[in-house]
Amino acid sequence: MKKPVIAIDGYSSTGKSSISKIIAQKLGIVHLDTGALYRGITWFALQNCLDDHDNIDLQLLFSSFSMIELEFKNVESELVLYLNHINISKEIRTNEVSENVSLIAKQKEVRDFLLESQRNLAEKGGIIMDGRDIGTVVLPNADFKFFLTASIDERSKRRYHELISLGIEADLQQVKDNLIARDRIDSEREIAPLRKADDATVINNTDLTKKETIEMILSYVKNF
Ligand code: C5P
Repeated sequence: MKKPVIAIDGYSSTGKSSISKIIAQKLGIVHLDTGALYRGITWFALQNCLDDHDNIDLQLLFSSFSMIELEFKNVESELVLYLNHINISKEIRTNEVSENVSLIAKQKEVRDFLLESQRNLAEKGGIIMDGRDIGTVVLPNADFKFFLTASIDERSKRRYHELISLGIEADLQQVKDNLIARDRIDSEREIAPLRKADDATVINNTDLTKKETIEMILSYVKNF
């Protein structure tokens, strides 16, 4: 039996990834957090592609793509990214990566480099992918599309608590500023901007628990 392809897009810290992970487990499909791919490339750039002023040298990054190997290991329904055989799950959540990722993600070369891997993973169905351009660009023919949104204060609190629980130092105002800046760059960029696909269902989960958001999504998907 064919399993569904589900696209979840939306603003930063609307719970896309944690919600998608649980839905994947409930439906017996896999989950890919595509933000982790952009964060992974940003982490690589910060390690290997800095210029004399410690800024990311984009040309050096683009010419280094041939040295980047992406692998995905299925760990309890989660497709965990290994970059050059290293699990960088924790490294990609640092403030340094968050502060640089949207500038990296707006580059056409970066988006082109990551597009095929994402599409290949969805070829056989049975996947829930979350990001910013999944319903619009990566998987325009997905069986189900959702667009998550929530108030900026609620999202800031969620990201702040997530960072603290990961043992990463955080300041609520700084977290909020970063979310606002990323949403602006993501929405205004020329290539694959953050926007709702015309056929996506919008869910504002400001006042919903994670469980309620999951139940709402499952109520659409259950008759597949
Ligand atoms: O989902 P997360 O907040 O971890 O994503 C980090 C950043 O990666 C986003 O702010 C955005 O710049 C970029 N991104 C993107 N397209 C996606 C997923 C993430 O541009 N599909």
